[in-house]
Amino acid sequence: MEIIPNFIVFEGCDGSGTTTQLDILADRVRTNYKDKLPFYRTFEPTELPVGKIIRNVLSKENPLQIKPETLTMLFAADRNEHLYGNGGILERIKKGEIVASDRYVLSSLVYQGIECGDELPALLNSRFPAPEITLFIDVKPSIAFARIIKTRTSFEIFEKQEFQEKVYENYLSQIDKYRSFGARVEIIDGSKNIDEVAQDIWSIIKLMPIFNV
Ligand code: TYD
Repeated sequence: MEIIPNFIVFEGCDGSGTTTQLDILADRVRTNYKDKLPFYRTFEPTELPVGKIIRNVLSKENPLQIKPETLTMLFAADRNEHLYGNGGILERIKKGEIVASDRYVLSSLVYQGIECGDELPALLNSRFPAPEITLFIDVKPSIAFARIIKTRTSFEIFEKQEFQEKVYENYLSQIDKYRSFGARVEIIDGSKNIDEVAQDIWSIIKLMPIFNV
């Protein structure tokens, strides 16, 4: 499997803290390495045209009713632009930037796998190279879901406790499969406090070759 060097991805159930941890990592790299190592953080679904359609589909206030297969294709189309488009991930990597994304291929294998079976997401995503490291923040779905309830007033279509239980189980099995294709996935114990989790993440990231030249 093709691997994109210097590309890091955060994955986890909704409410698992990927965004918080990405903030901390971005701050740390920017503070410690300043202009020497440009760090670009990004996320999926993106804010590009296809990503906006996806947000609309996911929003419970204004749900566009579409087939799960169509949604799977939209996520793959959004990812294709995110990766190969102008100013996209690969362009930045080629310029020497470190890129970190909140979600990527594994999210589609997990979430869309639940909705429409493994085959279509696996097929549509087989063309995307793997990140150098995927970090799965392992937080039990009941705890992650409780955090969502506390901090949000509106919810997206996947933000239901029962669905999140399935998401968690499917992460564990899709991680095994993704690894068997050659992807590196690190499981981070997300039940610790925010600083401890950040420290565990940094102890892995700091060993990447780019930080050791
Ligand atoms: P998320 O990053 O959790 O957005 P927010 O910051 O609004 O919470 O992503 C939105 C949802 O999209 C989340 O439930 C996971 C889902 N998702 C998929 O189902 N497939 C995918 O390929 C991606 C990238 C996200």
